[in-house]
Formats: sequence, C-alpha cells, structure tokens
Amino acid sequence: MNCIVLGVTGGIAAYKAVDLARQLVLRGFEVKTIMTEHATRLIGPATFRAITGNPVARSMFADEGEPMQHISLAREADLIIVAPATANIIAKMANGLADDLLSTMLLATRAPIMVAPAMNLEMWRHAATRANLEVLRTRGVRIVGPESGFLACGEEGEGRMTEPDLILEAALDILGITASMEGRTVLVTAGGTREPIDPVRYIGNRSSGKMGYALAAAARRMGARVILVSGPTYLQAPQGVEVIAVETAEEMWREVMAREEDCDVVIMAAAVADFSPQARKSEKIKKDGREGLTLECRPTRDILRDLGQKNRPERVLVGFAAETGKPVENAVHKLHAKGADMIVANDVSTLGSGFDSDFNKATMVYGDGRVIDLDLMPKIELAARIWDAVIALLEAGETR
Ligand code: CTP
Repeated sequence: MNCIVLGVTGGIAAYKAVDLARQLVLRGFEVKTIMTEHATRLIGPATFRAITGNPVARSMFADEGEPMQHISLAREADLIIVAPATANIIAKMANGLADDLLSTMLLATRAPIMVAPAMNLEMWRHAATRANLEVLRTRGVRIVGPESGFLACGEEGEGRMTEPDLILEAALDILGITASMEGRTVLVTAGGTREPIDPVRYIGNRSSGKMGYALAAAARRMGARVILVSGPTYLQAPQGVEVIAVETAEEMWREVMAREEDCDVVIMAAAVADFSPQARKSEKIKKDGREGLTLECRPTRDILRDLGQKNRPERVLVGFAAETGKPVENAVHKLHAKGADMIVANDVSTLGSGFDSDFNKATMVYGDGRVIDLDLMPKIELAARIWDAVIALLEAGETR
C-alpha cells in the first residue's frame, strides 16, 4: 500500500492536518504521522493516532515507537507531506538541519516531499523565507500554497494553509494517481473461499487475498466507490472501502449478485472453490474405524460466468486465471467460456510470483484478441496497471 508520512509542525493550521490525514486514510493510504514538539502543543497526538490507526512518532529517542524511526519512516514513505509547514521547518530543510525527528527524517529520505506552508504574512514575505523556499524548489520539493485570506494572527493576506482537499489532489498528482475513477462503483472479490466439510475442517486454497486487496486500495485512491467481497484473509482492509466478508463460494455468489447491478466494473480476483462438499457434516468426522475418507463434492456456481452471461456493454468484467502451465492459452479459453472482457493470467509456478507473494508476473488477455505481457512487479503496481486497462475499456464501452 502507498505509505504517506505526514509531518505536522507547530502552526495553528495543525488542526487542518487532521482533516488531511482523514482524507488520505479514506483514499486507502497508510498514513504515519510525525509531530514536532510545538505541534503537540496545538493539537493532541491521540487525534492523529485515532484517525490513522498508527502510532504518532515524536522523538528521536523511541519513547513510544521503534528505534531509528527517522530511517524506517524515511524508507517506508512513498511521499512525505509537511502540513502545515512553518517558516522554521522550511528553514531547517533548506539548510539541512537535523535537530528533531521530522527534520532528520526529511534529510534521510529519498521519497518525494511536498510542503504546505502556513504562517504569518510578514514571515511569509521575509527574504529568508523566500530564499529558503527557492532552495527547496530547486531541489524538487513541491510547494503547495499558501492561500490568501484571514490569518490566525488577525492579519489578512498570504499565509493560510491550502485546504486539505487541494493538498490531497497535489499528493495524488505526485504519486501519478489520477482521480479517473471518481463517480464509478467497482466490486472486487479477493481471497480464497472455504467450503466446510464438518464443524472443524474445510476445503480451502492458497490465495492470500493480496492481489484483490491491492486492486481495492488502488481503485479507492483513484476515487472510486469500492466494494470488496472477501474470503477470509489475514490482511487489513483498505480504509474507505466497503468490505463484505464471506466464507463459502455460495456466500460469495450471493453477495456479488446482490450488488453487481450498481457496478461499473467487477473484478473477480478471488480464488473461488470449484467444488464444495455435498453436505456439511454437523458432527466432527472421527478417524477411528475408518480406512480412508472419500468426500462427495458438487460443483459450485461460477460467479464470473454468471456475470458474463448478463454483462452489459458499458460494464467491464475482469477475471483472473492462476495457472501452472500455458497461462495464455487457458486464459483465452476462460475469457470466451465465461464472457469476460479481460482475463489477467499468471503462472503461479513462476518463482517469486503468485500466491502469498507481494509480486506478480501477469499477462492481460483481452476479448478483442490483444495479449499484453507484463514484467514481474509488486502487486500494488500491477493493480494500477489493471485499473488503467479497465478505464480504457470503460471509456471504449461508453463511446460504443
Ligand atoms: N471463478 C468464479 N466462480 C467460480 C470459480 C471461478 O467466479 N466458482 C472465477 C475466478 O474468480 C477467476 C476466474 O473465474 O476470476 C477463473 O478462475 P479459475 O479457478 O482459474 O478457473 P476455473 O473456471 O475454475 O477453471 P480451472 O480451475 O479448472 O482452471
């Protein structure tokens, strides 16, 4: 998941950083907050902790977090946003000072940095601040705002922190995420299903749910309303996503069918069981007195095929095919058999790819015959590539 480190410094606008944190979290970002000593005088760390679900880092001396947080956060961040950024932090950044956790982390990172200045009008106009900002600009730091208006000090003029929704927009821009799914509703299935044998056993599979969760988080970041129908996983659901927890293929079928009509896109990333025990035993099957065990199974309903049978031209239907040989051939067959617009095929026997891995090497097979081979890449990156392809299909469907 994309991780954003939010640096909050001691300006009155610190209260607006709470809303910024909330907006980032709702977009599916993992947000880690660093507060300066002065920021904590203006607003309580507990607020950021509650909103982001992560501890707030405040000191170099790991009083409440892990040691060497300046390094771990610097490495973890995909983007650092300093909001509000006081004249002081801007001066420290421009001069490479590292006298607290935030300034040290800013010196230790290679992640892109964005600052949203907020200060008194005279401080903003001061030659020192202008020069410091120029230094930051030439180093590639993105400066957002400030805006004009009434300032906390009673003056009127430039110095108000830019509103959180515009800071969010700039952040999406830096991360290369376009808000191109605003107004769309998408349904993603994830994880494997469990078909009960008796009260303690089930037939499951090795799906971790990582691909489906990455797809859900990516769609949320792009502004879509996201419904995630998930089999049991160990993953934390992305924020801002409606999660429907299911266990069996039958439950997944029911929950998907109840919602599919409202959706512009359905992606079946779940590993749905093809067979389910004929009847679930109400008592635990005992070992004694048995030579072996034969399970009578019946086929489950094929969700993708049922969706494909009533697909609409303006809706995009995507399936996955985890194969252990001839992935493209099998994907082409599945695409036609199930009526999907695209199948994302992957060879799960490829080393470092597929089940439970954070990486995947996939091929996108389209209904119009196109076959696009992708490199091995992190699942979060693959998710973005799949959405780009889906958006293109949606737009083509709308002009048809
Ligand atoms: N799928 C589904 N419902 C099922 C089984 C599969 O919707 N009961 C979907 C999966 O979510 C996936 C696609 O169909 O998007 C292909 O799943 P896969 O298991 O690879 O294909 P199967 O048709 O089950 O064929 P096989 O397992 O024999 O390869």
